[in-house]
Amino acid sequence: MTTEPTTFAHHLSQDPVPDEVRTAVLADPGFGTTFTDHMVKIDWSGDVVRGTGRWSDPRIEPYGPLVLDPAAAVLHYGQEIFEGLKAYRHADGSVWTFRADANADRLNRSARRLALPELPEQLFLDALRELVRVDEQWVPDGDGESLYLRPFMIATEAFLGVRPAREVLFSVIASPAGNYFGGPVKPVDIWLSRDYARAGRGGTGAAKCGGNYAASLVAQLEGDAHGCQQVMFLDRDRGDAVEELGGMNVFFVHEDGRLVTPELTGTILEGVTRRSIIQLAKDRGLSVEERRFTLDEWREGWRAGTITEAFACGTAAVITPIGRLVSAEEVIGDEGARPGEVTMDIRKQLLEIQTGRAEDPHGWLTRLV
Ligand code: COI
Repeated sequence: MTTEPTTFAHHLSQDPVPDEVRTAVLADPGFGTTFTDHMVKIDWSGDVVRGTGRWSDPRIEPYGPLVLDPAAAVLHYGQEIFEGLKAYRHADGSVWTFRADANADRLNRSARRLALPELPEQLFLDALRELVRVDEQWVPDGDGESLYLRPFMIATEAFLGVRPAREVLFSVIASPAGNYFGGPVKPVDIWLSRDYARAGRGGTGAAKCGGNYAASLVAQLEGDAHGCQQVMFLDRDRGDAVEELGGMNVFFVHEDGRLVTPELTGTILEGVTRRSIIQLAKDRGLSVEERRFTLDEWREGWRAGTITEAFACGTAAVITPIGRLVSAEEVIGDEGARPGEVTMDIRKQLLEIQTGRAEDPHGWLTRLV
């Protein structure tokens, strides 16, 4: 069975990004375009079918291209999963991560669905800590900024038969991040995908795998053409139940203070931010309903004024107000709507916990540096 390696070898970069370049990047990090000097790599070989295998050679290497055999299974059959979480700079200079155990758990749920090996939680946490320690200077300290951590696992075995790969790489890269949508937080418009689904029953919707995001792109293109920043997918088989956006969960705020979010049906990604918002809302005495929520209910609630706010959430998006839902047939939501009060309040509280400016009542933070 799996043997847990304990120490990471350090092969440090001989050519790190110059201080002045890094400083310029950190002044306006954007999202997902610049990467730190190092990355984590851990190899696995074994046989998931037999439940045998071993993680080996955990290491920090200079950030750089991967060498892959052109027959690597990931390139042909998409056997890949990933995670997204962040490291936050606190006022005293320390660096913390948020609910990394939940990401480790989800990585392993995704691994089981994609027939990839599970990674011991301790190794996942050690990998994050090792990378953030060597690239600590890359953690920004501006408002709403963080170091985005992207763990991922790919099937590297060169074999064209369709079966779970027997060689796998787990890696973590890191990228300084500001607002996912760029600029200050403002409501985003969402395109309603009528022709495309993101996931189906028995599919991979609940797993964080690249294929789900690839499947969302054609709908996202439609959205781009209509000036929308994200795309909303529905479950047509459940009476146009609202599912999730291309890369984010959604919540609806009601005038009586209730929050409603689509229940987890197996086709929706279980967001760590989603779960945290549910807890924080309950802590403030708000009632939260996880249930089927349909497009009709959204339309009627908006028209009647009983749904007062909608927002998107995810590690990358944090909490982002939704302005309007746009489709070829209709628009739900008001043009020029301002960010909702409840939305911005929960966003503020979440960010304050993450950045150490508010108490962490649930012990969600783990110190990395
Ligand atoms: C995240 O929020 O971390 C995600 O993985 C979604 C991203 C692909 C936009």
